[in-house]
Amino acid sequence: MTRECEPIAPAALDELKSLLGPGGYLDAPADIEPFVVDHRRRYRGDAPLVALPDSTAAVSALLRRCAALGVGVVPHGGNTGYCGAATPRPGGREIVVSLRRMGRIRAVEPAGNSITVEAGCILQEVQAAAEAADRLFPMSLGSGGSCTIGGNLSTNAGGTAVLRYGMMRDLVLGLEVVLPDGRVLDQLRALRKDNTGYDLRHLFIGAEGSLGIITAACLKLFPRPRGHATAFVALDDPAAAVRLLDRLRAGLGDTVTTFELVPRIALDLACRHVPGCSDPFGAPAPWYVLLEVSLPAAAAGLGDALEARLAAGLETSELRDAVIAASLAQREALWRLRESIPAAQTREGASLKHDISIETHALPAFVEAGRSLLERLVPGSRLVAYGHLGDGNLHFNLSGPAGGDDAAFLARGAELRRAVHDLVASYRGSFSAEHGIGQDKVAELERYEDPVALDLMRGIKRLLDPQGIMNPGKVLRGLEEAR
Ligand code: MLT
Ligand code: ZN
Repeated sequence: MTRECEPIAPAALDELKSLLGPGGYLDAPADIEPFVVDHRRRYRGDAPLVALPDSTAAVSALLRRCAALGVGVVPHGGNTGYCGAATPRPGGREIVVSLRRMGRIRAVEPAGNSITVEAGCILQEVQAAAEAADRLFPMSLGSGGSCTIGGNLSTNAGGTAVLRYGMMRDLVLGLEVVLPDGRVLDQLRALRKDNTGYDLRHLFIGAEGSLGIITAACLKLFPRPRGHATAFVALDDPAAAVRLLDRLRAGLGDTVTTFELVPRIALDLACRHVPGCSDPFGAPAPWYVLLEVSLPAAAAGLGDALEARLAAGLETSELRDAVIAASLAQREALWRLRESIPAAQTREGASLKHDISIETHALPAFVEAGRSLLERLVPGSRLVAYGHLGDGNLHFNLSGPAGGDDAAFLARGAELRRAVHDLVASYRGSFSAEHGIGQDKVAELERYEDPVALDLMRGIKRLLDPQGIMNPGKVLRGLEEAR
């Protein structure tokens, strides 16, 4: 194993290059650059080589050789993650492995409602292949045009349709994984039922490349919705939003696909910074919800059913106002408001992100407690708490005071994160609902995770990756030295 702090030896690199062959790697600094910086530019590392294997057999041979040479391996998808999991550490001790040459759709089975794809497939391509077969692959993310299925699996991605379809973990039937010693774990089947011992797939989903490299997956498809009704609703507070969610689910059941909370400040930021965003209402409201209902069968009456329920909410003053999209263009405009929030907050200036989840019914109390805590700690700071209310998951973000000193605000990041995460822990919530651990939240995992769970995680890591070559320092740390 490459000793800590020592870059990979030139002879080992030559060996890896000859194994990968011409076209199988990048080694020019300019070509490597995009692979060693995360997309938010918070992490920068070094790697002397980006491997581009084009088959499962090539990944297997590569990992076997890396294990023999003791070379660290950082799997890399579309580089859209938030926690730096795909960015190597400084020091040139690791190679990056990109599966961008493994982007084939291996099979689409409309009758069995499944699709088998390689890990380098772009999410949007999988959605398009499903649509071409008159099916839906429901994972839906703002980064769908660049994130890969391997990254979606490795981070157990969430997004805006979790309420109806679940997270990435819930969309998987089978997996193919190359283990750190080069063995291939072949569970690439479309079985709906298989109770043969431990379900190993779930070890690798959400492991952020720390246990092996997922090379292919068999994913669930669903009937394609024939109709949507999309509404933007203005309301007083998150408690009113939770009541509306309960009422809609009681009346419309599983047709409620999306239920996203948007605070006034997020709407303002989107309208200010992102072209094409505009406030659908004449008067401002403190909170909004973007919601969507969808039906696989002909959607006659779906819009009416939603309208009737929203009208009832307006009558009882549970809602302040509501619009239902009357055209595809209006639907897209409403979605644009929601999807523009992360970019708009970045354009506004310094911000701190927290990706928390709490049981949905407790979220309103949490939002209020968090708001007053942050206001006390940084008077004038602006809470931008938005996201997947239907899943109990909010991006509890904070922008610095308007016109304030960004550097001074960011310097308090660790302290504010601790305050928010301690509050989350007091609600028995999660400090990372959908963005993972990466290198960003390793210390948080150590602080907040149940010690028994942490002990088991370390044991699994040691069992599967005894040399600690897989994505060293991500999710768990210290195990590469523990060999
Ligand atoms: C989102 O829901 O928009 C993302 O997961 C969070 C973000 O980009 O901040
Ligand atoms: Zn999100």
